[in-house]
Amino acid sequence: MMQFKIASAHGYKYEFWISVKSDLAQSLHTQPALAIYEGDKLLFKIQEASKAAQYFHYTHEGTSKKLTLHIDNHGIELPLFYFYDPKTVDEKGITYVRFDKGDIQFYDEPQIAQYYQKNHRPVLHFTPFSGWINDPNGLCKYNDEYHLFYQYHPINSAWGPMHWGHAKSKDLITWTHQPVFLHPEQNLWMLDATGGAFSGTAYVDKDNILRFFYTERLAAYDLYGGYKEIQKLAVPNKETIEPRYIETILDTYPDGVKDDFRDPKVWYDEKDYLYKMILGSNYKGNSAILLYTSPDMLNWDFHSPLYIAPEYFSKNDGRCVECPDFFKLGDHWVMIFGIVGYEEAATGRFNLLYALVGSFENNVFTPYSDELQILDFATEYYAMQSFKADDRQLAFAWLYNWANEPNPNLPYSGDLSLPREFHLNDDLQLCMQPVAEIKNYRQNEQSIKITSAQTLFNNQNSRSFEISLTDIADKEFELQMFNEKQQHFCSLKYVDHILSLVPKSNTQSQYIYPLKKLDDLRLFFDQGIIEVFANSGVACGTLRLQQVQQCTQLQIKSEEQSDITLTSWGYAPKSHIQ
Ligand code: FRU
Repeated sequence: MMQFKIASAHGYKYEFWISVKSDLAQSLHTQPALAIYEGDKLLFKIQEASKAAQYFHYTHEGTSKKLTLHIDNHGIELPLFYFYDPKTVDEKGITYVRFDKGDIQFYDEPQIAQYYQKNHRPVLHFTPFSGWINDPNGLCKYNDEYHLFYQYHPINSAWGPMHWGHAKSKDLITWTHQPVFLHPEQNLWMLDATGGAFSGTAYVDKDNILRFFYTERLAAYDLYGGYKEIQKLAVPNKETIEPRYIETILDTYPDGVKDDFRDPKVWYDEKDYLYKMILGSNYKGNSAILLYTSPDMLNWDFHSPLYIAPEYFSKNDGRCVECPDFFKLGDHWVMIFGIVGYEEAATGRFNLLYALVGSFENNVFTPYSDELQILDFATEYYAMQSFKADDRQLAFAWLYNWANEPNPNLPYSGDLSLPREFHLNDDLQLCMQPVAEIKNYRQNEQSIKITSAQTLFNNQNSRSFEISLTDIADKEFELQMFNEKQQHFCSLKYVDHILSLVPKSNTQSQYIYPLKKLDDLRLFFDQGIIEVFANSGVACGTLRLQQVQQCTQLQIKSEEQSDITLTSWGYAPKSHIQ
């Protein structure tokens, strides 16, 4: 039994996930798994924990004296434990508690930033403190702050019963961790099932009223079918954003749909005074996006499929659309979706994202061209979600694609992309650029003209930097990246009018983008994450190299006197509390 002192004040909330290490381990239940005391007074007790994880919370009604935590450390595990003062959590975030070899450590915002720095976390990319994350969810700007929710499995770094984690930010780069926002409806660990609070979006109306729409996958015993997905509305508390109540708003499937019926996105259509919702699905055998309408956000009617993907997707293992997105950009409508399971024969890539630009009238989307624009010419950019903030359409994606194994040596799994902003170019192609806020984190600007073959040492910034190439004037080049062991791990090339990313770790897939002319190029490296933006972001390529941490050397080879200008910046974290 370990005993620790822990801070408290009236109203403090403690949330934790407990499981028993093995059937016999919990000291044969002679002592409580966990107890909280104020002096001699027992305030809270879990007598018996179970092998399956369970979530508990305790709100302190007493004074500000420190509390004592009694933990049966031989018997139980506490994969996630945090506490906070609900009155200040909004600004200060939560304090994570970690138990390590008989010791207890507290991480509140300044220490979380130090912990991230010490453990070489990406600087510009969001990662969770611990656990597994996948899709960004519920993105919104609300009361001048950005909210990021994400698919979260809190008890280990593998996908499992889904929760919504939550963080908020003033600038889209530096995040304050908030309490878990949504839990699965049932204890799925106990049921040995998967499912839970799946992906969804936020909707802020013109009167600043915030709503969340998401899918609950009911307890499921198969990953590929036979499950039920229902749509839910979470109505938040105005001040704290905590869900005030949750309602089921859609639990029947239309004809032609089974199993996959998820990831709602909602908006209001002022033309016909109706709310609209799209869902990712499979309609009569093909990946599809379904359109629903509602007068009140509660009662939803199936209207029609808004989009049905060409048959070749289902013929090549495409199971359904996931995380569909649909928004107005200027005078045009943009549709974005991913098809899970599909493998592109020509390049060997999995689970890609596609965009279409067109018009939307009378509930019909008419793309200007049927040709799908591939959103990323590499591979780790999936489950993207966009949201409108002021005049900008912004997006985050998950840097993964279900096809690559996460790094088992990291205490967490899952990174989100750079925040990106959309625009359409003159050819009405969808372009993405990193948001301008990133420039506030730049350091050590260096600029050189490339003559021919050159080695650029970048030790100082080796974990997180940006390279920008200008004055390219159609010159060919190869930029080679080396790690701290002088191993060449990736190249970025522009040869024969093809822009390509060539990671040494993957020889089966091809990451190429034909470009008649390369005008500009930006490459971000952040602790093994590579994001490339070419020609104002019409060509974007994203890789999450799980085994790479540093890029200590860059070599660039180009034609004689190419005169390409290369500018570089290092990136350093900013304190979480400014
Ligand atoms: C996409 C996805 C979504 C689903 C969620 C579950 O990565 O499969 O369709 O809602 O992840 O975690």
